[in-house]
Amino acid sequence: MDSCDSENLPIFQHKKKLVKAVQVNPFLVVTGETGSGKTTQLPQYLYQAGFGKDGKIGVTQPRRVAAITVAQRVSQEMGCSLGREVGYQVRFDDCSTENTIIKYMTDGCLLREILADPSLTQYSVVILDEAHERSLNTDILLGLLKRKVLLARGGSSSRRIPLKVVVMSATLETDKLSAFLGDCPVFTIPGRTFPVAERFCGLIGPKDTDSTVYVKEVVKVALDLHTSEQAGDILVFLTGQSEIEKACDMLYEKAESIDYRYDVHDRTVDGLLILPLYGSMPTDQQRQIFQPPPKGVRKCVVATNIAATSLTINGIKYIVDSGFVKQLNHNSRVGLDILEVVPISKSEAQQRAGRAGRTSAGKCFRIYSKEFWEKCMLEYTVPEIQRTSLTAVILTLKCLGVHDVIRFPYLDRPEERFILEALKQLYQCDAIDRRGHVTRLGRLMVEFPLPPGLTRALLKAASMGCEDLLLPVAAMLSVENIFIRPGQPEKQQDAEREHMKLIADSGSCNDFTVLLSVFQKCRASDSPSAWCRDHWVHWRALKSAFSIETQLRDILLRLKQQRDFPVEKFDGSRSELFRRCLCTGYFANVARRAVGRTFCTMDGHGSVVHIHPSSALFEQESQLDWIIFHDVLVTSRVYVRTVCPVRYEWVKDLLPKLHEVDAYELSSVAREEVTDEEVAKWEAKEAAKRQAGESAEDMA
Ligand code: CDP
Ligand code: MG
Repeated sequence: MDSCDSENLPIFQHKKKLVKAVQVNPFLVVTGETGSGKTTQLPQYLYQAGFGKDGKIGVTQPRRVAAITVAQRVSQEMGCSLGREVGYQVRFDDCSTENTIIKYMTDGCLLREILADPSLTQYSVVILDEAHERSLNTDILLGLLKRKVLLARGGSSSRRIPLKVVVMSATLETDKLSAFLGDCPVFTIPGRTFPVAERFCGLIGPKDTDSTVYVKEVVKVALDLHTSEQAGDILVFLTGQSEIEKACDMLYEKAESIDYRYDVHDRTVDGLLILPLYGSMPTDQQRQIFQPPPKGVRKCVVATNIAATSLTINGIKYIVDSGFVKQLNHNSRVGLDILEVVPISKSEAQQRAGRAGRTSAGKCFRIYSKEFWEKCMLEYTVPEIQRTSLTAVILTLKCLGVHDVIRFPYLDRPEERFILEALKQLYQCDAIDRRGHVTRLGRLMVEFPLPPGLTRALLKAASMGCEDLLLPVAAMLSVENIFIRPGQPEKQQDAEREHMKLIADSGSCNDFTVLLSVFQKCRASDSPSAWCRDHWVHWRALKSAFSIETQLRDILLRLKQQRDFPVEKFDGSRSELFRRCLCTGYFANVARRAVGRTFCTMDGHGSVVHIHPSSALFEQESQLDWIIFHDVLVTSRVYVRTVCPVRYEWVKDLLPKLHEVDAYELSSVAREEVTDEEVAKWEAKEAAKRQAGESAEDMA
C-alpha cells in the first residue's frame, strides 16, 4: 500500500473533521468498520496536525501482535525506521525511545506507565484502540482515564496542557462508551460493506471441543471451497497455535494432490498459499500475511481471533469459521484462571463473517449447525473483567491510590466475589495488609509483569540471595512452547527421547528444575541454536527467555538499589531453598495426594486434579505426597502442569493463611479505609482461633 492507497481508506475523507473533534473534546469515541483505517491513520493525522509537539501520541492495543505489526506498517507509511518516530512497546519488548512520537503499545504497558507517571505527562493524546474487545486492561484504563481527565478539569493535575483521550471501537456499544465518558461525542466513519452469504455446514456439534474434530472439518471445508469457488482469498478462524499448525500441515499435505487441470472449478486458480497467523509467531512471518499472493494463487490464512478485528487482511472473500475460541476464564471449580476452548458469541461470529465483505460480496462457511448457533452461542462476548482473575489489576489500582475498588468506575462491574477473591489472594501473598493497604512487598510486586504467585516466589528468592535460581524459571514460564512436539510419529519418538534425557540431566524430578536446567545448559553451550535443534527445543522461545531474564534481573537490580529490600537467611541445601521459595509463591496451588494417581487441592475448593502427561512427574504419582503447581489445564479432567514435589513442613505454616480471612472482612476492606479499632478486633479474633487450634493439637 502506498500513500495513494491510504488515501483510498474510508477514514481519509474525514481527516479534517476528525482532527478538529480531537482538538475540541477531552474525550472522543471513534467508530467505524474494521479496515477503515482507524488504527493506522488517525495517529498519523494527529501527528501531522502537531499533536506530537506537546507529547507522545500513545495508541493501546489489547494484543501484542497487533501493536507490533501496526507500528511496522505505520513506520513504513511514514518512511521512517521502526523504533524512531514510530515505535512500539509490549511486555518484554520495547522498540521505542524517548524521541518516539507515535507509540503503539499493549494496554498492559500503558497501565504500567501510569504507575510510574500517574498524569501521563509524556503524552498529549492517548488512544484506547479496540475498546469493543473489552480486555481487562483496556476496561481499567477507561476507568482510570475517566477519573483522571475529570479530576484534571477540576484543576488538580500536574499537567501543563490537558490530556486528550480517544476511544476507538468497531461499531458495537458506542452509546454505552459515550455515556460512560460523560456523553462525549461519537465520531462515526461511514463505511461501505458488501453482503456476505452465510452457510451453516452442520459438521460439528457443541460437544466437539476436541481439536482433532474441528480441525479436520475446517480443513475439509477450506479445501472444498478452494476447488469449487471463484478466485478470492480464504480466512480460516481457529483456536490457537497448535491447532493452526496442525491445520496448516493437513492443508499442505492435501493441497499437494490437487490437479489444477481437472479439480478446480475456477480455471484462473492454480495454486494455494497457506499461511498461519497467531500471536507468538515471528514478526517477519507475520508481515507476509499482508502481502498479496502471486497471480493465480489463492491465499489461505489460518488465524486465531486476532484476524477478527485487530488485523485486516486485504483480499479476503471467504471465511471458514470453526465457531470456537480459546478464552481465559475463571474456573470456580478450581479457583483458577483457565485457558479453555469455548463457543464464540453471535456478535463474534458476525464479526468474523464480516471480514469477507470488505471489498466485494463474500461467503462465510460455518462448520457448526444452526442449532449450535441458537443454543450455544451468547449474544455478546462477556467482557474479560467479568470472567478472569482481578488480582494483578486490583494491586495496580491500590498502588495508584484507588482504595475503594468496588466503587471504581467500571464500564461493566465485575462480580463482587471476584474482587473479594483478588483481595484475598493479595492478602495471602502479603501484598496488602488487613486494612487493605499495599505493603512494602506489594509495592515491589507490582513492578514485575508476572503473575502474583511467581513474583512472590521470585522476591522470596531475591531476599534469600538466590535469584539466579528463580529468574530463569520466571523467564521460561513467560514464554510459550519450549519443547517441540513434532507431528510425524518417528520424529515424535526422537523428540520424546531427547526430552526424557533433558529431564534426567536436570538431576531432580521437578518441572521447575527442568526449566532451569534447560535454560542454563542452552545458554552455556557454544551454539545455543544448535543445542536447541539437537534437543528438540524451540530456539525462538529460549532466545526470548534469555532476554526476559535480563529484563527481570534489571527490574530487580533497580529495586534493590532504590528501596530497602528485605534480606533473609537460610541454611539448607540449594535444592531445598529453591523449592521453599516456590512454596512461598505457590502455596495457594498446593495439593496432596488422594486416591490412585489423583491429588486434592488445599485452597478450600478441594478439587481433584491429575498431573499432566507433559510433566516430568507424570506416572510417578505413587511416590509423591505433597505437590505445588504453576497452572491448570481443563479438558475432560483437571490437569496441573509444571509441578514440584514439596514437604508438608514447608507449607504447613503457610496453609492457615489460605483460610484466615473471610469474605465479610474483605468486603469492608474493598470499600473503604478500615479503622485501627477494627483491625485490632480481627487480630484478637485470629489469636483466639490460633490458640484454640494449638490446644486442639496439644490434645491430639
Ligand atoms: O483500525 P481499522 O480496522 O479501522 O483499520 P486499519 O487497521 O488502520 O487498516 C487500514 C488498512 O491498512 C487495511 O486495508 C489493512 O489491510 C492495511 N494494513 C496493512 O496492510 N498492514 C498492516 N500491518 C496493517 C494494516
Ligand atoms: Mg484497528
